[in-house]
Amino acid sequence: MCKITDAEILRFITTEDTDEAEELFAAARKVRAEHYRNEVYFRGLVEFTNYCKNDCYYCGLRRSNTNVARYRLSLDEILQSCKVGNSLGFRTFVLQGGEDPYFTDERVVEILRAIRGAYPDHAITVSVGERPRESYEAFFRSGANRYLLRHESADEEHYAMMHPSSMSLRARKECLYTLKTIGYQVGAGFMVGTPFQKPEHLLEDLRFLQDLQPHMVGIGPFIPQADTPFGNYPAGTLEQTLRMVALARLLLPKALIPATTALGTISPVGRERGLMAGANVVMPNLSPREVRKLYALYDNKICTGDEAAECRYCMEGRIRGFGFVPNMGRGDVAGWQPPAVS
Ligand code: 5AD
Ligand code: FES
Repeated sequence: MCKITDAEILRFITTEDTDEAEELFAAARKVRAEHYRNEVYFRGLVEFTNYCKNDCYYCGLRRSNTNVARYRLSLDEILQSCKVGNSLGFRTFVLQGGEDPYFTDERVVEILRAIRGAYPDHAITVSVGERPRESYEAFFRSGANRYLLRHESADEEHYAMMHPSSMSLRARKECLYTLKTIGYQVGAGFMVGTPFQKPEHLLEDLRFLQDLQPHMVGIGPFIPQADTPFGNYPAGTLEQTLRMVALARLLLPKALIPATTALGTISPVGRERGLMAGANVVMPNLSPREVRKLYALYDNKICTGDEAAECRYCMEGRIRGFGFVPNMGRGDVAGWQPPAVS
């Protein structure tokens, strides 16, 4: 059990001393190796809709952004992406989308049943935002195993500065705890360097994670998207994001932590540095190439011109180049016991 104090965490959040940061990364690598050796888990990401009813100030897919060409993948297109992913060796599919009212519970259930029917042994991760408990239960019964829902900021005031008043941190947290009780492996997370973020907010993010005990933690730098209210704010830094990844690893030793696409976007070796700071997951994109550019949460997103196979093998090469070994298995969290489906 890691008993790191608030003062120590704050020092690591803010330090500009590269030796100190390197010690932190080395400690995170050691903890990660105890549970996952030097393996990196692959997840195949299918971004199936870029419609969103929300209006988050940081996100390029916000409903007020009229400069986005909106798309929805059909069931056949989603299944085709999974098929390509399966033949490339992926055993986890991540279905991610904006909060799109077109995808009613019935439609999501139809998609999940179809994927589950075709791939009985794969892990299916869903990421479609906030829904009532009954929806989450229906998805779970239809074959979903995992759910990603970043909390974005665990500080009430800061959360309110990033979202319109129709959204609340309380609702977000409630969803996360509900998902856990249903039996999902749950992912929370946040961005680093969002406008108005203070070191104390990042400390709160970490303490919230300790309370929630998620199985997965997504951490990436904020990157401005020109058509959003935050379009003129600076991006989060690589170094601070890496320190947050390392701290998350120390506080949640068994967590599955992706080296995010946003990290790879702010630095050509961002994802590799993420792995060196304690991350152990990568999520190459399986979406059809035609729609990749349209899932523009932020500007200059990488991998939007590449085929699924290119990213799959590019990532493998990058990982091996840094001494890590790809693991194409389901990659459940260490010690995971699947719950009985009622
Ligand atoms: N920069 C970086 N990450 C972003 N996300 C949304 N907008 C941005 C941005 N401008 C992240 C959010 C969301 C996830 C899918 O992408 O944290 O939960
Ligand atoms: Fe997509 Fe390298 S991971 S091109």
